[in-house]
Amino acid sequence: MAVQKLRENLYYVGAIDWDRRLFDELIPLPDGTSYNAYLIKGTNKTALIDTVDPRKQHELLGNLKELKVKTLDYVIANHAEQDHSGTLPQILKQFPEAKLVTNTKCKTMLMDAQLLPESRFKTIEDREKISLGKRTLEFIFAPWVHWPETMLTYLPEDRILFPCDFLGSHIATSDLYAVDEPAVYRAAKRYYAEIMMPFRIQIRKHLENLISLKIDLIAPSHGPLFNRPNFIIDAYKDWTSDTVKNEVVVPYVSMWGSTQKMVDYFIDALIKRGITVKPFHLTATDIGELAMALVDAATIVLGSPTVLTGPHPLVAYATLLANALRPKTRFASIIGSYAWGGKMVEQLAGMIPNLKVELLEPVIVKGYPKTPDFKALDKLADDILTKHKSLGIIS
Ligand code: FEO
Repeated sequence: MAVQKLRENLYYVGAIDWDRRLFDELIPLPDGTSYNAYLIKGTNKTALIDTVDPRKQHELLGNLKELKVKTLDYVIANHAEQDHSGTLPQILKQFPEAKLVTNTKCKTMLMDAQLLPESRFKTIEDREKISLGKRTLEFIFAPWVHWPETMLTYLPEDRILFPCDFLGSHIATSDLYAVDEPAVYRAAKRYYAEIMMPFRIQIRKHLENLISLKIDLIAPSHGPLFNRPNFIIDAYKDWTSDTVKNEVVVPYVSMWGSTQKMVDYFIDALIKRGITVKPFHLTATDIGELAMALVDAATIVLGSPTVLTGPHPLVAYATLLANALRPKTRFASIIGSYAWGGKMVEQLAGMIPNLKVELLEPVIVKGYPKTPDFKALDKLADDILTKHKSLGIIS
C-alpha cells in the first residue's frame, strides 16, 4: 500500500495482500488481508511500529525509502507472530542502530523464531513509556490477544492506539479507514471468531483497560483503521459478552440422505418455533463462516452419519474446531444416523470438553428416519425452545 499520512510526521507504511487466501494454512481469507505498520517521528527519535509479512517486505522497505528514513531509533514489536515480525531481520539489518523494543516474553519468542541476537533488544515493562521527543509511546501488556506475549502501543499526544492483531480484521481494501462499516464489521467478526474467541474472558479485561485511555484512532495491524473507535469497541463488547442469541448452528454431513432428511426436517421445526437456524454442510463450508456463526449462537447441533463406528471425519473436524474456539454456546445436541451400530454420540460428546454446554437428548436413527424419529426431532426442537426461553432470548 502506498505511504499514507495519518498525522504530521506519522505515516502508514504497511502493505495490502490482495491475493492471500489462506492464513496459518488453516484460516480462509476470502477478502485478503493487510499487514499494517506505522512510522512515527518525534522531535528526537523515530520509531516503526510492527513490520509486515516477509512476502511483502519489499513494500515496507520501499515505503521507508520513499519517506527518506535514514535512521530508525526504535522498532516496536507488539507481537511475535511472523506476519508482523517476519521483516524484522531485514529491518534490523538495514537500520543497524535501531533497538527492537518489546517485552521479555516477546523477546524470547522472537529470538527463537527469527534467530534475532539479544543485543538488539530493549525490553520494557507494562505501562513503561519511551519518549520520541514531544511524542510518547506507552506500552500496555495485553496477554492472550491472541498469544501470551501480545502488547498494545499507545500514543497519548495523538490519542492513537496501535493494538496489533487486537480489534483488527482480515480484509484488503484501499480504504485507509473503516468507511464501509458493514463490510468491515463482518471481516472483524470473522477475525474475532477465528483468532480471538478462545480468549474471550481475557479480552473482556483488556477492553475494560481501554476505558482509561483517550482514543481518537485505533490503528490495528490488519485491516482498515477506526477513526470512530466505539464502532469496533462496541462490537467487541457484544461478541465477548455472556449474552447469546436465539440461534442454532447445525454443522452436518450426510452420506446417503438419512441425516440430510433429518437436518431438513429439524431446520423447519426450529423455524416454526421462531428460532434462527444456521446450517453448514461441511463438504462445502468455509470454516470462517462457521466460526462466525458460533460467536453468538445459544445452541449447536451436530449432524452426522456413522462412519466406521464413529462420526464422519468432517463432523469430527468441525467439532474439534468448535471445542478449540470455545464459543459461549450454552446447549448442544447431536442428530444423525447409522446402518448397524456405533459410538458416534459418545465420541462427539467426548470431543467438546472446553464447551460449557448442557447436552440435550440426541436423536440417532437406524437407517432412514421414520415417524417416531421425526417426533423425536420435534421434541429436540421443543427442548431447545424451552432452553432459549429460559435464557430470555425468545418470548
Ligand atoms: Fe496478525 Fe497473530 O498475527
